[in-house]
Amino acid sequence: MIVLGIETSCDDTSAAVVADGTRVISSVVSSQTGAHSPHGGVVPEIASRRHVEALPAIIARAVRAAGIDWGDLDAVTVTRGPGLASSLMAGLVAARGLSHRLDIPLWTLNHLEAHIYSVFLDRADISPAELCPILFLTVSGGHSNLVLMEGLHRYRLLGATIDDAAGEALDKAAQLLGLGYPGGPAIERAAHGGDPAFVDFPRAGGSIKNSSFSGDLDPDYCFSFSGVKTSLLYYVKKHPDLAHDPARLADVSASYQAAVVDALAGRVGHALESFRPAAVGCAGGVMRNEVLRAKMAELAARAERPLLIAPPEYCTDNAAMVAGLGGALAAAGCEMCSDWSVEPRLPLR
Ligand code: KG4
Ligand code: ZN
Repeated sequence: MIVLGIETSCDDTSAAVVADGTRVISSVVSSQTGAHSPHGGVVPEIASRRHVEALPAIIARAVRAAGIDWGDLDAVTVTRGPGLASSLMAGLVAARGLSHRLDIPLWTLNHLEAHIYSVFLDRADISPAELCPILFLTVSGGHSNLVLMEGLHRYRLLGATIDDAAGEALDKAAQLLGLGYPGGPAIERAAHGGDPAFVDFPRAGGSIKNSSFSGDLDPDYCFSFSGVKTSLLYYVKKHPDLAHDPARLADVSASYQAAVVDALAGRVGHALESFRPAAVGCAGGVMRNEVLRAKMAELAARAERPLLIAPPEYCTDNAAMVAGLGGALAAAGCEMCSDWSVEPRLPLR
């Protein structure tokens, strides 16, 4: 089965062709970073307009790069949520038009589930059926979740962030430090050679237990990044010359990055002990971070569990994970969603 995927949930315009739910034949990602960086973050109106303008050429490029004809496609998949409403709509409209013109099914998928599925791309040697239950850390600009994948299309949310997502905490910190957007890669670059123990930023723990967080999630598996962010804000106010001192900036960036990584790793370590999953999985844009990747590898090795992690290009938003998930779900006989409405707050079920 050959599936075309389209992903426009935030500020990356992407199309990809995936065969048999795992083999990536082509993957095209066009980043809008240049358009948003002067504003210090994603501007939804700019993002959706850029998606509409770029999509026809990006989709055509993905099909051409795959070396197939339009008629070879068996289905179109697109992200319906969570994400920015107007950006999701741009992808959905394009996917609907294509499915109508080519007379093939349209499947609309969950962005978080697609991120999780990214670890199975180009991995015909492994399958969720053999490896589940898998404990997943999914960390992106909009979400930080601990999820137990019990099977394909079967998830149990163990924990979530009670305030900022990990990526958001990095993006906001980079802005405070004058490092630009997107903040995750900027902090990682600035942190090179810095001392991660230079500032002892807080690693959220007790504050979550004492918060008025009203979900039915166990606070022991939840995250909070507002404390570390506020702590950085005070540090920057106290050291106004920081931006002009590259060595000190490296130390502070490394310390902040370490605090975010430790907070994530602490929760994962705790869940590993409690749930004893068969494997550990990592997904989402923040998983491009080398320090976090190394930390997760260390945790998995200590627990003697295999680590499932996608190459960096499949961690950030991409359409290959959307096409792959669609192909895998259809092959497994799952009921496919063809709902045409976008769901900016679509939860993972
Ligand atoms: O998954 P993603 O591409 O989009 C969302 O679904 O949000 O994740 C984007 C997030 C941004 O917050 C970005 O700063 C972060 O991933 N990110 C990183 C790195 N590359 C991207 N964070 C830390 N280190 C990186 N190298
Ligand atoms: Zn994402």
